Amino acid sequence: MVDPAAWSRVADPARRVGRSVEFHAEIGSTNDRARMALREPSGDGLAVVADLQTAGRGRRGRTWASPSGRNLTVSVGLRPLLEPSRAGLLGIAAAVATRDACASLTPAAALAIRWPNDVVTGEDEKVAGLLVETAVEDGRLVEAVIGIGINVNWRRDEMPPEIAARATSLADIGGAELDRIALLGVLLDVLGAELAALERGGSPVERFRSVSALDGRRVAVELGEEVLEGIAAGIGDDGALLLDTVAGRVALTIGEVVSVRDADPMEVRM
Ligand code: BTN
Repeated sequence: MVDPAAWSRVADPARRVGRSVEFHAEIGSTNDRARMALREPSGDGLAVVADLQTAGRGRRGRTWASPSGRNLTVSVGLRPLLEPSRAGLLGIAAAVATRDACASLTPAAALAIRWPNDVVTGEDEKVAGLLVETAVEDGRLVEAVIGIGINVNWRRDEMPPEIAARATSLADIGGAELDRIALLGVLLDVLGAELAALERGGSPVERFRSVSALDGRRVAVELGEEVLEGIAAGIGDDGALLLDTVAGRVALTIGEVVSVRDADPMEVRM
């Protein structure tokens, strides 16, 4: 068990993201705690970490499973200085930061991002997932909570079979256990740099494109009740997934990629 006080050693009052770090041995969801903390001025940039979440959430109403003390589950609450029309880029920027932080600790792994924000291996096994929750009031983006779950030391042979079938961990990739606190330090640094660039008017999309897992592959995207199939044709400037379907090119700003496979070489890209 890591000394709880060790987590706050990566806090740095000189930076925005992770100026303070709050550790919980057990909590419902770190996203909820980070959002609640935003009621106070000190909540902006607070990183909330938990060894165990009893109500960890994933995207699209899923639960996020993670055993106690093995992984990194962290949420950062922010009041971003961002036009609501650019709020979608927060998830893109956070995905780039998460992928880069993971890659810095496992340099030999070819980590990529599966739109919109899953960090995956070359074999499409999920290493990390993000849940970005935003609130707009009177046409202003008033708050954002960036929740990040990274499989760090949860070995595949310990995962339930349904998770092991499509996920892995940094320890499995690198062959050795990793220091979760060191990973948090890197993550907060790169997330802070991405956020600052975004608030200055920059875009993370080019960096996202350079590590996108989907280009040229045949994917199925779930949109509520509907599943759309096509060839992934890149990422738009707003972070949308461009998909070439039988009915032409569509730009998806929401959706869940439910299958990925190599395109048939005879398939003509439209
Ligand atoms: C997904 O891939 O569906 C998103 C998973 C996000 C999980 C993280 S863990 C920290 C934060 N707290 C939550 O309840 N969810 C996010």
